[in-house]
Amino acid sequence: MSNSIYSRRSIRKYLNTPVPKEMIEQVIDAARMAPSAKNRQPWKYIVFGGEQKKELLTQMEIGIKREESEEAFLQNSKQGIPDAKNTLKIMKEAPVIIVVLNTNGNTPFQELKVEDRFTEICDSLSIGASIQNILLKAEEIGLGTLWIANTCFAYKQLTEYLDTTEQLIGAVAIGYSDEKPLQRPRKQMDEIVEYRL
Ligand SMILES: Cc1cc2nc3c(=O)[nH]c(=O)nc-3n(C[C@H](O)[C@H](O)[C@H](O)COP(=O)(O)O)c2cc1C
Repeated sequence: MSNSIYSRRSIRKYLNTPVPKEMIEQVIDAARMAPSAKNRQPWKYIVFGGEQKKELLTQMEIGIKREESEEAFLQNSKQGIPDAKNTLKIMKEAPVIIVVLNTNGNTPFQELKVEDRFTEICDSLSIGASIQNILLKAEEIGLGTLWIANTCFAYKQLTEYLDTTEQLIGAVAIGYSDEKPLQRPRKQMDEIVEYRL
């Protein structure tokens, strides 16, 4: 496990090779072992491949197009649209997309009371831990992954298509890697840690 922490990279090019279902099961089994606030385990994973993945991504494309128009839900985030389009292209190439839901969460398009915001923070952190388990397990068994939050540009379109009122956290693309990216820069230790011993 500790090696996979250092060797994992975000993968943005995938081979057209199918991923055996047993491998998907292995990564999701790792996800469910993550710690979670009050052990709520507020996660749900929907695995997409083949035609159903195409349908999902058509909806994401429609959602992103809307964000380019006057009817955008995220009026102040237009600068993120090219990156979202690039992510969509990667998702089309990856053989499997795992959609991640917060079963305890609601739409982000409504105000939250302070207490509920703390709960949501804890649930988001728990789900983040479980997604990281997916990424590391995938790395261990020879699969590449990309953690995706750009689904937010098509939030309403995607949740309607998924037919859920649960909160859409994002997605993970998964497949056999067709690239070997260098490590992206990291902050130095002295920039991120302060000792008060
Ligand atoms: C919460 C989160 C959301 C991300 N969303 C996207 C995304 O939508 N599209 C994308 O290409 N990369 C996405 N990434 C990947 C980051 O760009 C990547 O982790 C970062 O640049 C460091 O590179 P590395 O993962 O190879 O170490 C996301 C990562 C995280 C943790």
